[in-house]
Amino acid sequence: MNNAKRRTVIAGNWKMNFTPAEATAFINEIKPMVAGKDNCDIIFCAPYVTIAAAQAAAEGSNIKIGAENVHFAESGAYTGEVSAKMLTACGVEYVIIGHSERRQYFGETDETVNKRTLAALAAGMKVILCLGEVKEERLAGITREIVSMQTKLDLAGVSAEDMKNIIIAYEPVWAIGTGLTATPEQAEETCGQIRDVLVELYGKDVAEATTIQYGGSMNDKNAAELLSKPNVDGGLIGGASLVASKFTAIVDAAQ
Ligand code: PGA
Repeated sequence: MNNAKRRTVIAGNWKMNFTPAEATAFINEIKPMVAGKDNCDIIFCAPYVTIAAAQAAAEGSNIKIGAENVHFAESGAYTGEVSAKMLTACGVEYVIIGHSERRQYFGETDETVNKRTLAALAAGMKVILCLGEVKEERLAGITREIVSMQTKLDLAGVSAEDMKNIIIAYEPVWAIGTGLTATPEQAEETCGQIRDVLVELYGKDVAEATTIQYGGSMNDKNAAELLSKPNVDGGLIGGASLVASKFTAIVDAAQ
């Protein structure tokens, strides 16, 4: 973390977990546990049907509620999708785009990730943009090339001005939900490589002001070491975001 230059963001990704009642209970439990811990932004990204309950429970606290995806069109014949206009109308400011599970199971490509990102930004939302290499790519030694290409394709058409509404989540796909974590050195190296690409695209000032999270089996045990790295500005947390004590420990590691 380098709090002098950029904001630390600890975000939970609930994925397909929690009914509205479960989300309410979870937020009510964690709210007092993270109260006053203002050295980082705290966000939970929730399934669409759970957002309203989570927002109601989080009201007046330092917890923000986001969505897990957004479509690129404003409205129309896209069964099952939700637009940025709909999300902002519901008071949702943050949205995850390009999560590897979307890419792996639902056919998302850098092109659709880019379109969704541009639409979310145009609607005034803040985007948590996920990217990262698969295991074969890391083993082949091409992680740098992969994350560089993804960063460029996913951010195509995003202006330097809009970068203040972008958070990048570096998520090595082999570390997501597997219990395997990138070492702090691997996380630092790749987050640094992504920042180098941002320097190339937007210059040093924008690159240094952009929050780059690490995601992939971050938990209460490994968070402090990962977050101690200068280029790791927070975490995107799946499994451990469903357990109040574990998530709070990660928030504490960011203080
Ligand atoms: P995990 O998920 O923490 O369960 O590995 C991270 C993510 O998918 O964002």
